[in-house]
Amino acid sequence: MKIAIVGATGEVGRMMITCLEESNIPISELDLYASKRSKGITLYYNDNPIKVRILTESSLCKHYDYVFFSAGAGVAKTYAPIAAEASEVIIDNSSGFRQEASIPLVVPAVNGDLLAGYSGIVANPNCSTIQIVLPLSVLDKLFGLKQLVVSTYQSVSGSGHQGIATLLNQRKGSTDKGIYPNIIDQNVIPQIGGFLDSGYSQEEEKMHFESRKILRLPKLKVSVTTVRVPVIYGHSASVYAQFDKTVDINVAENALSQAATIVYYQNSYVTPLDIGNSNDSHACRLRHGCDNKSLTFWNVGHNVRLGAAANAVEIFKQHAQYSGRQ
Ligand SMILES: NC(=O)c1ccc[n+]([C@@H]2O[C@H](COP(=O)([O-])OP(=O)(O)OC[C@H]3O[C@@H](n4cnc5c(N)ncnc54)[C@H](OP(=O)(O)O)[C@@H]3O)[C@@H](O)[C@H]2O)c1
Repeated sequence: MKIAIVGATGEVGRMMITCLEESNIPISELDLYASKRSKGITLYYNDNPIKVRILTESSLCKHYDYVFFSAGAGVAKTYAPIAAEASEVIIDNSSGFRQEASIPLVVPAVNGDLLAGYSGIVANPNCSTIQIVLPLSVLDKLFGLKQLVVSTYQSVSGSGHQGIATLLNQRKGSTDKGIYPNIIDQNVIPQIGGFLDSGYSQEEEKMHFESRKILRLPKLKVSVTTVRVPVIYGHSASVYAQFDKTVDINVAENALSQAATIVYYQNSYVTPLDIGNSNDSHACRLRHGCDNKSLTFWNVGHNVRLGAAANAVEIFKQHAQYSGRQ
């Protein structure tokens, strides 16, 4: 299998290499691309050195079975269509194509069926959306999800390596705000992305749109507040969900305990520091909300793994299976 990663030197790109190593899928050729800033950098795949190449249009005229993009929406918009001409499947981590009706937005355990027989660009969803739709999809099948209120607690690695650098510099005493609108160390910032006319931020609107699209619930009522917190890895969310049917807590807990890609904690809770290198969505503190047709729970996921690289590699694995490549 011939594979390329665009944005290989970033937080997500480096984790993609790790997730590909962990997948044990035989790869005959792995090309790594980044910007001019990465000239001369060598990365390793299964201890084999691979020199990072500078991305140009002609790089992507080469045929690959799969090309992973993890270099932001601007790079994806320019280069993913070029790659799609020459290669089979392009898996993009950015927000560049998620809203396009013809592009599948995929969390394999929820709507991986969309990959069967597909070639072209596949969009990898927003990190916080991936982790919440996994348990919500299980609960929707049981009780019929109709309304969602979510508050997130998102780590600085969600902003890439500059987010981590900003927090670590401030921890050493810097008063430079770095890439955030306020100091993030010892603080929480209720803004991720710019604000829109609706009063919601870009990140919040992404979660509204993407939850509806992935869960195939176009009429789902959603209100999200996204918040940046001084955590390095791991996004958390407080989720409040309203359903059509009366919710039996035991039934909900059993279903979550048995579902793929979910770890459910019955009598304890989980924090970002607890999840280590897990690629699962972690759910706990399940209880009724204001009435017995509602549920509220706490949810944690590794944003760079589950929220980006591991989901992208899972899309790759599932597509490779459907297409007989694996
Ligand atoms: N971090 C997360 O938790 C997360 C979660 C979900 C989705 N995402 C999305 O994944 C993408 C990457 O995020 P990240 O966190 O990995 O960011 P990052 O750490 O800032 O890395 C960005 C990567 O893009 C490359 N790049 C930037 N401009 C380029 C250009 N003109 N040509 C070629 N390569 C270029 C960079 O190369 P250089 O090193 O050479 O600059 C680097 O490899 C973004 O779209 C982000 O929204 C991130």
